[in-house]
Amino acid sequence: MDYTTLGRTGLKVSVAGLGCGGPSRLGLRANKSAKEAAALVRRAIDMGVNFLDTAEVYGTEEIVGKALEAIPRDRVVISTKKAFPLSDPANPAGELRKGLEQSLKRLKSDYIDVYHAHGVEPQDYGYVSDRLVPEMLKLKEEGKIRFLGITEAFVEDMDHRMLQQALKEGYWDVIMVGYNMLNQSARTKILPGTLKENVGTLVMFAVRRALSRPERLREVWADLVQKGLVAGNACDPEDPLNFLLREGKASTIVDAAYRFCRHEPGVHVVLSGTGSADHLKANIESLTKPPMPPPVTARLKEIFGKVDCITGN
Ligand SMILES: NC(=O)c1ccc[n+]([C@@H]2O[C@H](COP(=O)([O-])OP(=O)(O)OC[C@H]3O[C@@H](n4cnc5c(N)ncnc54)[C@H](OP(=O)(O)O)[C@@H]3O)[C@@H](O)[C@H]2O)c1
Repeated sequence: MDYTTLGRTGLKVSVAGLGCGGPSRLGLRANKSAKEAAALVRRAIDMGVNFLDTAEVYGTEEIVGKALEAIPRDRVVISTKKAFPLSDPANPAGELRKGLEQSLKRLKSDYIDVYHAHGVEPQDYGYVSDRLVPEMLKLKEEGKIRFLGITEAFVEDMDHRMLQQALKEGYWDVIMVGYNMLNQSARTKILPGTLKENVGTLVMFAVRRALSRPERLREVWADLVQKGLVAGNACDPEDPLNFLLREGKASTIVDAAYRFCRHEPGVHVVLSGTGSADHLKANIESLTKPPMPPPVTARLKEIFGKVDCITGN
């Protein structure tokens, strides 16, 4: 495993983070048992992963807590999240505190390393900043959370308007942003700001359906051509990213996708969620491989440089 420093938090983290949410939720979505899911978490830790991302709404905090029972707490960095919008917006401080206490109980821990406001949409950012941040700062002072984080609602906010607001304020030690080969807009809209302020940066959506299923990639490509966002003659419409295997020497499109994100300057941790031990192993291998050759990365940047309106799902 390769390790890096998560920006100004100073935390030493694995470049591969285990995503305990996403479409797989550690395999729970495919009806795997909690025991199997906990075994997957332990397997990731055995392979050197020390960054675990979960959330109160994923239903996986308890599994993470169980998986960590026999592991010294300081060997892992736990990132979890308070669902947003709140169910009781009139009492943000109370609801946040209650949510955190419940997360701590499920995770069997006295503290959270990175506690995020989860999936904040642009129109809600002002509320989060005015009403939630003061309580988050109190919880930090009390030692219950070590660092404040915020994650975007990428599906609703594909050009990162919320995070652009958040980066103008100094509260956020860590952010989570959607970034992948198809929508690279975070490179110009978000990463210059995180680099300047040394904000810890987590990437989600490195691989979703378009980069793991050829038929979905063909659909997405045709849609981008039709919208005039990519040049139709830039790729083979039947197999748009085949040059990554030929010239990029990637073993698969998924391999290329993880390596592309991993080596983007400013990105600290790339999250990968799966219910499959084989995928976990392959993804960790990809995230610890060298970058693809510079001309291949440059070609990807050229082809998809104007795209900021898809998630890659
Ligand atoms: N707003 C937010 O805060 C937010 C939103 C989304 C996600 N997240 C967090 O970020 C993490 C990463 O999310 P994500 O959106 O990037 O999705 P993800 O959770 O990483 O899911 C990846 C998807 O790709 C499949 N996959 C993984 N490896 C594969 C491989 N080698 N070959 C083929 N298919 C593969 C997985 O299915 P299999 O089970 O079949 O492998 C899964 O469906 C999440 O787990 C979650 O912790 C946060």
